[in-house]
Amino acid sequence: MPLVTSKEMFEKAYKGGYAVGAFNVNNMEIVQGITEACQEEKAPVILQVSKGARAYANHTYLVKLVEAAVIECPDIPVVLHLDHGPDFETCKACIDGGFTSVMIDGSSHSFEDNIALTKKVVEYAHDHGVVVEGELGTLAGIEDEVSHAVGSYTRPEEVEEFVSKTGVDSLAIAIGTSHGAYKFKPEQCTRNEKGILVPPPLRFDILKEVSKKLPGFPIVLHGSSSVPQEYVKMVNDFGGKMPDAVGVPEEQLREAAKLAVCKINIDSDLRLAMTGTIRKFFAEHPEKFDPREYLKPARANIKEIVRHKLVSVLGCAGKA
Ligand code: G3H
Ligand code: 13P
Ligand code: ZN
Repeated sequence: MPLVTSKEMFEKAYKGGYAVGAFNVNNMEIVQGITEACQEEKAPVILQVSKGARAYANHTYLVKLVEAAVIECPDIPVVLHLDHGPDFETCKACIDGGFTSVMIDGSSHSFEDNIALTKKVVEYAHDHGVVVEGELGTLAGIEDEVSHAVGSYTRPEEVEEFVSKTGVDSLAIAIGTSHGAYKFKPEQCTRNEKGILVPPPLRFDILKEVSKKLPGFPIVLHGSSSVPQEYVKMVNDFGGKMPDAVGVPEEQLREAAKLAVCKINIDSDLRLAMTGTIRKFFAEHPEKFDPREYLKPARANIKEIVRHKLVSVLGCAGKA
């Protein structure tokens, strides 16, 4: 089937008490690992492209890779989404260039400016059959250029006005997640018996308050990698240095997916799986230099981690 928007996907996810996975793509192996898992598990999927991905791989290459995946995975609905669109021009380029969904991230602007910018993108997108994700509240984080040093939770009292004035199709909210592999500072956490950091719980009270104000409306969670400790260990065992990397516990994401959260964004976990696997391969096979030999197991591990998310975290396996 051709690329779709997320409209029907979110309606089904809301009613069904599950979330669709939104995975970031930057190259062929990542696209293949994600979509092969989704095809085998019969799961709908959102493939998302950031500003950084477009700068790295080029818009056309990414669109064509996703189009190839659509041909190879004929049984599942696939959305091509712009992640953290920084301005109107980038959103327009993606809308004109084959995407079926865009995010306009106006979260660093004032409430009024965020509304004005988001509304402008929504008008253009809807005229072209494309859906739009907006954001209210800011995610804390230290890893990438879309993060802010200090986050602020979404204010439930603002969401109705934002959604009605902008016409957005989904809303990303800040309830304690953040981007990257270091989501919580050690001093915010406790430690379990193995010395692994246990983060503070997400603000489910805010999520519930938001969904009360917006009944039936799809909510999005960014920064939702769980930072699997087996991959952190693999990275560290084979020359990496990622002390105290910690993510969002999977049970909490499962809980959020049963509520109004219909889209869960995951990028860092795939990066960890790829990097850990390649580091291990290099350490164990120092004589090898054919990229296919290390990209193959990296792709296979991306596929397995995505399969795990679909089946055990998001609940969207079998929902295509
Ligand atoms: O939200 C951020 C995503 O993980 C994309 O990260 O800007 O490094 O491509 P990036
Ligand atoms: P993670 O860094 O937790 O994977 O979040 C990705 C994300 O939110 C992309 O928009
Ligand atoms: Zn994000």
